[in-house]
Amino acid sequence: MRVVTTFSELWAARESLPEPVGFVPTMGYLHEGHLSLVRRARAESARVVASIFVNPIQFGPAEDLAAYPRDLPRDLALLEAEGADLVWTPTPEEMYPPGFQTWVAVEELTRPLEGAMRPGHFRGVTTVVAKLFNGVQPQRAYFGQKDAQQAIVVRQMTRDLNWPIEIVVCPIVRESDGLAMSSRNTYLDPDERQAATVLHRALTEAQAAFDAGERDAGALREIVRRTVGGEPLADLQYVSCAHPETLEELESVAGGRALLSMAVYVGKTTKTRLIDNVILGDEGAW
Ligand code: PAJ
Repeated sequence: MRVVTTFSELWAARESLPEPVGFVPTMGYLHEGHLSLVRRARAESARVVASIFVNPIQFGPAEDLAAYPRDLPRDLALLEAEGADLVWTPTPEEMYPPGFQTWVAVEELTRPLEGAMRPGHFRGVTTVVAKLFNGVQPQRAYFGQKDAQQAIVVRQMTRDLNWPIEIVVCPIVRESDGLAMSSRNTYLDPDERQAATVLHRALTEAQAAFDAGERDAGALREIVRRTVGGEPLADLQYVSCAHPETLEELESVAGGRALLSMAVYVGKTTKTRLIDNVILGDEGAW
């Protein structure tokens, strides 16, 4: 496994890679969720490239950029064990040299949900993913359903800019008690870690109601609201039941599928913001 830092090192290494190249962009502090993407890329591609870069421009001023967990030696060992061929670890200076002023922004799809709660977040994501794609030139790129809106936005950008890259979306990997794996779970103390199971519990209850025939989107959102409301350490920021392609809020799910998604603050003093989602209808239809 080769590790490169600069664009020129990357391009020199990329030249000799047999195609198709599968690419897994990450911010590091890797867990089984990330590794599931690497495994899928490994199974479908001749070579696998991963990137590790905590992207400063996708964090808001009040967000956790400085605190974001990092462990490069451990990440590299995990990637090596999964059979990654090339790892790109650019520095912020390499990515955003002085005078940097070009942005890639997707419009409508970034207005609701995470976009509404985290102004500027997606413009930071799409700009860095554009630069990462330009560097790696993959045939396929792998994203997790954990960040469903991100995957939808990146797919739209790729389509709109005519890049010949297939965006593959992989299922959410969970802990045994249902909590979606996330680098941010390390912020939780034991009580908060227990309380954090309420996200998956709320989605599971809504899913059960859907399976029993509930199609009223407001009723499904209310189940999530009520379940999260029962957990004293959890504070629901939003719950959405939206069209899985346009992300517009639905009145009814009778027409087909829906993305039921949520953001929850967990904790008393230091609050950790967690997200989770489920696709009602056909989960496999990405
Ligand atoms: P990061 O949060 O490190 O996540 C990297 C990829 O792993 C994303 O596609 C994310 O959806 C996926 N992922 C995270 N947790 C997962 C889980 N429990 N199950 C399945 N997949 C999971 O997302 C980012 O980094 C950044 O925004 C990035 C795309 C790298 C741009 O900076």
